[in-house]
Formats: sequence, C-alpha cells, structure tokens
Amino acid sequence: MIQYGACYYPEHWTPEQAKNHIPLMKRANINVVRMGEFAWSRFEPEQGRYRFDWMDEVIQSLHKEGISTVLCTPTCIPPQWAVVKHPGMLQRDAHGRVRNPGARCHCCKNAPEYQLLSERIVDQMARHYAEMPGVIGWQTDNEFGCHNTTRCYCDHCQAAFRDWLLEKYKDTDTVNQAWGTAFWSFEFQQWNEIPLPRAMPAGNNPSHWLDFARFSSDTQVKFQQAQYDLLKGLCPKHFVTHNFMGRFPEIDYYKLAQFTDFPSWDNYPEGCDDPFLPAYQHEITRSFTGSFWVMEQKSGPTGDSQSGLLGEQPEPGEIRRWTWQAVANGADGVCYFRWRACLSGAEQYWHGILDHDGAPRRRYAEVAKTGEELARLGKVIAGSKVETPVAILRGYPMLWSIERQPGAAGFHYDDHCYEIYRAVKRTAHGCDFVNIDSGIDKYKVLFAPCLCLADKKLADKLDAFAQAGGTVVFTPQSGARTPSNTMWAHPRPGALAAMAGLTVDEVRPYHHGQTENVEPVGSDSPVSSATVEKWVEVLACRDAQPVAQYAEGRLKEKCAAARNSRGKGAVYYLGVYLQGEALAAFVAAIAPEFPVPGIPEGVEVTRRSGKQGSFLFVINHGNQSQTLTLPSAFEELITGEKIGPEVKVARNGILVFKT
Ligand code: GLA
Repeated sequence: MIQYGACYYPEHWTPEQAKNHIPLMKRANINVVRMGEFAWSRFEPEQGRYRFDWMDEVIQSLHKEGISTVLCTPTCIPPQWAVVKHPGMLQRDAHGRVRNPGARCHCCKNAPEYQLLSERIVDQMARHYAEMPGVIGWQTDNEFGCHNTTRCYCDHCQAAFRDWLLEKYKDTDTVNQAWGTAFWSFEFQQWNEIPLPRAMPAGNNPSHWLDFARFSSDTQVKFQQAQYDLLKGLCPKHFVTHNFMGRFPEIDYYKLAQFTDFPSWDNYPEGCDDPFLPAYQHEITRSFTGSFWVMEQKSGPTGDSQSGLLGEQPEPGEIRRWTWQAVANGADGVCYFRWRACLSGAEQYWHGILDHDGAPRRRYAEVAKTGEELARLGKVIAGSKVETPVAILRGYPMLWSIERQPGAAGFHYDDHCYEIYRAVKRTAHGCDFVNIDSGIDKYKVLFAPCLCLADKKLADKLDAFAQAGGTVVFTPQSGARTPSNTMWAHPRPGALAAMAGLTVDEVRPYHHGQTENVEPVGSDSPVSSATVEKWVEVLACRDAQPVAQYAEGRLKEKCAAARNSRGKGAVYYLGVYLQGEALAAFVAAIAPEFPVPGIPEGVEVTRRSGKQGSFLFVINHGNQSQTLTLPSAFEELITGEKIGPEVKVARNGILVFKT
C-alpha cells in the first residue's frame, strides 16, 4: 500500500465546521493524516497540565474509517507561557538581535529550558499514544532550520560551540593549527576566547565558519536524536520520521537521517519551476535510507506568510502529476498540505485540497482520482525500490565551504550538483546521492563535483572505487582544500592528483561573463565542443590523457579535461564547468545504457523494482504530448491496456508499465 494522506489541523475547526472532513477524506481514498506539529499550546495549556482528549477523539474517529495517524511532536513552537517564563530560550541572529516569538522556530535548541520542556512534552505524548489504535508513526518537530534558524548566535550556542570544539580538537593549540589562526591575530590560549562567527566588519576565518556550520547542523541532529531515542524507546511499534526540506543547505541530512526510520520532505513546486527539481529532491531524500515519504505536497495555491502573496493555483493535472512523480522516484507515502485552508493566522492565505469554505471542488476531485489509482496500483508497486548504477557525491561540508568561498561569482555548489543530476536524468537512470562516508561499491559511475575538501583517506577510497572498475568524475576546484577548509600547500587537486594523473597549472575565475570555447581531443572523446563560463583551469597531464582542450586565445591547445585509466576503471578531471547539452552528452557517453533511449525533453522516465516485478514510469511534464519507444509492448497498469513499443504520453500524462 502507498500511504496517501493530508496534513490535518483539527485544532483549527469547530465540530460543526469539521463534520464533513472525515467522510470527504474517505471518499478521496485518503488513508493517513498527519497532525499535531503546531499544537503544543493545546496539548499543554499550562506547564505540566497535559490535555490529549481532543486529539484522541479525532484519532479514534479517523481510525474507525480506516484512516491512520502520523502524530507530530509539537516542539517547533512552545506555548507563549513557556516563552514568557524563559525568554533566554529565544534565538539570536548574527547581529545579536533576538528572534521574537509570535511565529515559529524561534527557540534555541541549545537552550537547556527549551530542551527540558521539549523532552517532557515528547515523553508525555509518547507514553499516551504508544498503544493507541490508529497511530502508526511520528514526525518530529517540523522542518528543522526553516526560516533561516539553523544557525543561532545566542550565549547558549556560544557555550555549546566551545564544548563541541573541545570534543573535536581536545586542546586550543589543535584548533589554532586546524584553523590557521596565526592569520589576523586570531590565536587562542583559552577556550573562552573562541567566539561565534557573529557579524564582523570583514570576512570571517573560513575554518571557523565551517566548524560553526558543522556545529549548527549537529545541534539540529542532536535535538532529533533526543526525540528519536525517546520515541523509539516508548513506542517501539511506531516509525519515526522528520520532514526535511529537499535541497535545504544548512543541515547535514545524511547525519539527520540516521535518527529516522526514513526521512520525508515537503514539496512545493510552482507550475513555472523546472519540473525536474522535485525529482532531484525526491532522489536526495530517498538516498539517505532507501525510502521516503513526501510529508507535505502542495495541493493548492501557496500563500506566503511574510509577503502575503498568493502562489500559483495548480493547473488541472498538476497535483496528480506531482504525486505520481514522487511515487515514480521511490516515495512510499504522499501527504498533501493541507487538508483545508485555515481561517486565521499567518498562513490563512495558504490553500489546501479544500478552500476556506470546505467545499470539494476540482482539486479535491483530482486528489480523489489519484487516490483511486494509487489504491489500485499501490498493491503491486509498494515495496519496490529505485536502484541505480549512478551516484553523485553531494556533501554538506563541501556546500558550506563553497557557500563561504564560491571562487567564481554566481557559482553555487548545489546548482552545479543539480546540473549534473539533470544530465543524468536525461539518460533515465535514477541517481543516488552519497557523502564521503557512504558505501559506494554498488555504483558504476560516481560524480564528485567540486570536491573541494579532500584528504588522502578520501582519495584512497575513491581511487579504490576506480581501480575496481568504477568511473569517477571530478570538476573544478576539487582537492584544493583540507577538510578544515584551509588551503593545501600541494598543487591542485591536492590529494586527488595521483588518481587524476594530473595537476592544475592555473585557475582563472570569470566573474564578468567571460567565456572560453573548448573542443574534444581524440575521436572518442566524451567531451563535445562547448562554451564554458565562470571558472576554468589549465591542466598539466602526467599519466592522464587530454580529452578536451581550449580552442582559441591565450589558452589555445592547453588541456581543459583529461581521463586517467586507473586499474579496471577511469578517472575524469574536468577543468571546466560543462553545462546543458555538452554536459548531457558527456554524461550519456560515460553512463551505462538505459533500456529506453532517446527520451524527449520534458519527459521523465524512472524505474522501481521489487518482488512483484519491475515498473517503468513515464511522466510528461511538458506542454505537448510526446512519443517514445519502449523495448517492447507492456501492460500499462493505470488503464490495464497493453501498449507499445511506441507509446504516446499526453501533457500531464502518466504511464506505469510492468516490465
Ligand atoms: C512548510 C511547513 C508547513 C507550512 C507550509 C506552508 O513546508 O512545514 O508548516 O508552513 O510550509 O507554508
């Protein structure tokens, strides 16, 4: 079964207003709701006085109709009494200003009072709901770090940061060494001399910054771990998840996901966005544990709480397409945000499946139709997984390092990862995302874009992967920095030079729109002629063979990209950021073949496999119908018809084949 649901806020409705909610959910094939993440003031109206009866009634009424509940710990927003009593638990920004209460996410996860209050409410809820029929799992809190709140600069964080450094470095001399504090008189004798990287008149020390980014991420992970341990201990029958934010950059989600049974994420595409961006985030989220849910899926016009602007109304067919896209990329559950648009509060403009009046209209009809399809197909699809030979090494410390020092104006690490992902997608292969600690042996091709922080240990691991038959691809700026974010004294790409079989002779940032043209070297080069921008490197090959060179100007015939044979495999070092068609051609040339070639632009093809077979999903995100050729005719599961090998997929169309 695929879990199909909605985010529901019973605390927003009178019994009269709510009387049709459960019957309408049932008619829409909804089998799960998520509740409670912002209801702390209802659960604990006064300190130590807990009230769960109102929620129990809703859970029981849903359960009678076969609808399960994912309960949330409500720690994202403590009640006002708590904030008034303990103002010291409010966060501070980099300028030392208090993040005021009244909205959400304003409490500091290093504040002892907040930790204690959170622990108590989670403990009470877990004990109360451990055996309640209908409750199947928990979502902790809500979107850690939302509204730029991962990084807090209060005094609690100051103390906790020093403890974190003590644990990591043991003594201040080692910190001085790791951060290179001889620069600008930043050397410490005592722990209490180490500040937070608050707003400063000039740029902060990049190593200080990177450790603060790591510490801030670890703070979120530790908070999650505390709730995870409590919930798993008291509710062994329930799963525990958290709703991640896809490509959100501030938390190391590989670490966070270790304290979930599976992660979820919240997907709010606008019709005008690149339709493959949700796929990117589905695959990122899936990669952490192999399965995931979409815990919040846009189902109506969004209504930003700050600007007050209304977002796009989903076009007919879009909600269904977004839902199937999640399933096609491996989701085992999809919940819409929100069941019904609320009548008050910062998000009163944020629409759900139902509008404010609760009347079922066309979005409801589309949700119901999709629910009917998933109820039927879910029986065979459930349990199947996306498996792929391709992975991208997308590491949060790399992201933070590049965020601090992108090198080239307008360069973003995550956009670069996305461009590579988009090129992989055009081959129809799924793509896993890994970090430097992940197992990589099962892959055939590993992209390690902009692998700026690299040491010998990482180089040895990647080299062993290549020696065993894998293909590794590096792109510019790789290997330049130590894991502490200082620069290596060796030529670029530092520890990666031996496996790449080359060094970098010169780097040239292009901030003002300058470009270079590159051309292939050799008839079997995977690199085609291309114009590149932002940043170029001149490579000096030792063992490696050039596969591309600069075509003209002062760099003419100098090496721009090279391939080094390594045992049974190979290492590519691209000294330029290939984009668009050139990147797609390069990826297609080195990736294993996929059984459906020539996928038209805008069409997404994915594959899930399991005990009940292998399923090919074809989704048309474009504006026109498209045709593609399958390896043979197959049964299409939504209609039950056998079609192919040539198949037509309409605009917003979805085909699911059992192959
Ligand atoms: C996020 C949050 C929700 C809600 C929606 C819409 O994803 O998790 O609580 O605020 O956005 O704004």
